Amino acid sequence: MDYQSQYKRAISDPNGFWHDQAKKLPWFTSPENILSESSGRYEWFSDGEMNTCYMALDHHVKQGRGDQTALLYDSPVTGTKQSFTYQHLLDEVSRFAGALQQKGVTKGDRVVIYMPMIPQAAIAMLACARLGAIHSVVFGGFAPRELAVRIDDAKPDVIVTASCGIEIDRVIEYKPLVDEAIRLAQHSVNHCIVFQREQAIADLDASRDSDWLEVASNAEPAPCTSVKATDPLYILYTSGTTGKPKGVVRDNGGHAVALNFSLNAIYNIKPGDVFWAASDVGWVVGHSYIVYGPLIYGATTIMYEGKPVRTPDAGAFWRVIEEYQVSVIFAAPTAFRAIRKEDPEGKKINPEALSCLNAIYMAGERLDPATYDWTREQTGKPVIDHWWQTETGWPICANPVGIEAFETKPGSSTLPVPGFDVQVLDESGNELPANEQGAIAIKLPMPPGCLPTIWQDDERFTASYLSRYDGYYCSGDGGYKDADGYVFIMGRTDDVINVAGHRLSTGEMEEVLAAHPAVAECTVIGVADSMKGQVPLGMVLLKDGADIDESALEAELIAMVRDAIGPVASFKQAIVVPRLPKTRSGKILRKVLRQMVSEETVNVPSTIDDPQAIDDVKQSMRRKGVIQ
Ligand code: COA
Ligand code: AMP
Repeated sequence: MDYQSQYKRAISDPNGFWHDQAKKLPWFTSPENILSESSGRYEWFSDGEMNTCYMALDHHVKQGRGDQTALLYDSPVTGTKQSFTYQHLLDEVSRFAGALQQKGVTKGDRVVIYMPMIPQAAIAMLACARLGAIHSVVFGGFAPRELAVRIDDAKPDVIVTASCGIEIDRVIEYKPLVDEAIRLAQHSVNHCIVFQREQAIADLDASRDSDWLEVASNAEPAPCTSVKATDPLYILYTSGTTGKPKGVVRDNGGHAVALNFSLNAIYNIKPGDVFWAASDVGWVVGHSYIVYGPLIYGATTIMYEGKPVRTPDAGAFWRVIEEYQVSVIFAAPTAFRAIRKEDPEGKKINPEALSCLNAIYMAGERLDPATYDWTREQTGKPVIDHWWQTETGWPICANPVGIEAFETKPGSSTLPVPGFDVQVLDESGNELPANEQGAIAIKLPMPPGCLPTIWQDDERFTASYLSRYDGYYCSGDGGYKDADGYVFIMGRTDDVINVAGHRLSTGEMEEVLAAHPAVAECTVIGVADSMKGQVPLGMVLLKDGADIDESALEAELIAMVRDAIGPVASFKQAIVVPRLPKTRSGKILRKVLRQMVSEETVNVPSTIDDPQAIDDVKQSMRRKGVIQ
């Protein structure tokens, strides 16, 4: 069936469309109740019983694919390569699930995972899924305070970590960070399981900590626990507009069905192909396309513990593609910008060695046309921009090449994926005509796999996503559709920024800056960066009488953000301003500031309190070299 027919059917007959997709998976009890609605809330496959780990591992082994490679681990930072068959991975996962069980973990319990990109991270995730426990993976670049906030929200009994991560050539000890987070958290964590890596052996506290290898070798393999399709598989925290991250909940059944569909429809791979998402398990891309998607679909996935450059050079991605005969690579545009910066003429690319590669997928931030063109020209491969979010768990817009391949247009993530009724709305919720920019919203119901709620905060779910436009999910992104229905995502309409493909909240950074004793007022905005897409810029107003040298203050603010949020925030610049442009009611005019730093025409609103503030801020920006 062509794209238009599939798209129309998914919207007009979601029950039939998704029932057909669900039938492709091995359920314990197949769902009959496909889509149910109650008070404007939707559930998928509510009477289905299943287990995600069973679908990802046991099923393939039962089908005789136990010897097929499930996971390849490639770590240029440690010089290690390892390969796991489906049978081997199943054995490791079952035993680690047994170890978690011995620590008291059962269905519905939460387990926080704070790990680098090593196979044990995927093993821990799958082991939780096996028990029906809910994992919450926290990205290793977040500081202890961020980890503590997530511990307090998810309330886990167990934390799984490793003794260290490796950032190019720096060993980052994780255990002291976890200890500090446990100390900061209100919720008390009973057990911490540590995978010891030879680069740094962590000190263990016998009353709470245990060694991964020891607990796994003493454990009996655990069987799969049957869960309802609507039971949560994981919580993944993502940045919202306030200081408190949102715990996006993912269910088991809808997630499995959606990912299985996407591997074919969007990524056009076959079971047994090698699929490489060069991301991190701490992000949604890692959840969906390093761990669950490829395994449920019966493909081979790669866990790459390295960077696109400097491990050892800009040829790293091309080396991995050739060595493992990768069919599809998926990474953030920033990774290709980094490669391009170091190897602008593509000297490290040998197009013949890439004959295995079908296409290069990019998401996580806007794909700028220059990076799109360079990647396409240097590799000779199709470059597919696709748009999605932690909340949806899988692509909303893409070139659905597994169904029908369309011509791409630079700057566009092509067309809505079957199941997503994407509309561009004006302030009053009316659909805008082609080429007019507005808020990108998705008409309810969303397809399977998208978030059913925010962990323990249904009200925030409604307030954040459903209340802006009745009957729609509000994505937080702005953009437009052209006359052919192609979707162009132009950026966030809220205070979320995207730094090197990492989603961060400026509100959260503002809370940190505001805690400095010399700071009276502050704001953080995203400014364009040629490699990371955006980087944060802090603007602070000093308290009367504050006597502090500007560069000393800047250094302190940078250290505070690094300490509170983590190095991943890439907060490297703060300027002192004499005042900030505000409305008469006292709201900081962030849009005006954003227009100023991007050197666009500044639209001064009539509600501005004092227009002179704009010139004052401009002068401060010029002094600091932020603008010309
Ligand atoms: N654990 C500990 N620290 C981490 C970390 C982790 N897992 N990941 C990143 N950091 C640290 C880095 O060491 C760096 O610290 P520094 O300020 O002391 O140098 C900081 O966080 C910022 O890291 P990063 O954003 O990775 O910047 P970089 O300059 O080190 O590398 C790129 C630039 C482009 C190579 C890198 O950002 C990259 O590979 N981006 C791809 C992003 C991606 O895959 N996103 C996934 C979403 S799809
Ligand atoms: P995350 O939840 O971390 O995956 O970040 C989601 C956000 O990243 C989206 O809301 C967009 O702002 C941005 N984003 C993701 N993919 C794209 C894309 N292909 N084009 C433009 N922006 C994107």
